[in-house]
Amino acid sequence: MKKVLFLAVFAMIALTGVYTVITLYDSTMKVGRMNQTPVLRPHEEPLLVMDKRLVAFHKSEKLMKEKLMKENYKNMFPEMPTGSLKASLTKGEKDYQTFCSHCHGVNLDGLGTVGQSFFPLPANLTGKKVSDLRDKEIFSVISYGSEKTPALASSMTVESRNAVILYVRSMQKNAH
Ligand code: HEC
Repeated sequence: MKKVLFLAVFAMIALTGVYTVITLYDSTMKVGRMNQTPVLRPHEEPLLVMDKRLVAFHKSEKLMKEKLMKENYKNMFPEMPTGSLKASLTKGEKDYQTFCSHCHGVNLDGLGTVGQSFFPLPANLTGKKVSDLRDKEIFSVISYGSEKTPALASSMTVESRNAVILYVRSMQKNAH
């Protein structure tokens, strides 16, 4: 029993000693301390003030869509894909897997991994609702976005958007 008590007291004294040494080191030997390095103290720098004209942060998405609509108005109306149907379908499938599948699912059923964090959930692209949309409407969704689909006009060429529509249509036919 005595031994245990002695050990406990000894451990307490040792820990207090270590603590004192570290505290002294921290408060007196400032040179080379990591927390003195400027890159670790960005919160102490004054924040940069952004010029209000740089980003339209009120309804910026809406403004961007309006701008795109004005600039690309003629792209609102898809042209029939040129070249062979098979080549367009292959391109459509590839571009679908690149731009849509993470939300709408590899099988177009709306079960993409990323999409499951959205509300409302991504549309089932082979379902009735999307089957009933006209090509123009789907083209507009891809180009300028829907409530949750991002506007992809600046990422996908007109040809690529048309090819995706063609692919979605072919999958809708298979599903019915
Ligand atoms: C970031 C996730 C995401 C991506 C990427 C995405 N979508 Fe969507 N999409 C959604 C969600 C969520 C909805 C359901 C809510 C809504 O209507 O916006 C939706 C809805 C739709 C609709 C139905 C719109 C309506 O009016 O009912 C269509 C058509 C569509 N997406 C097509 C596409 C196509 C084609 C692509 C690829 C070019 C694509 N989406 C990429 C998330 C996404």
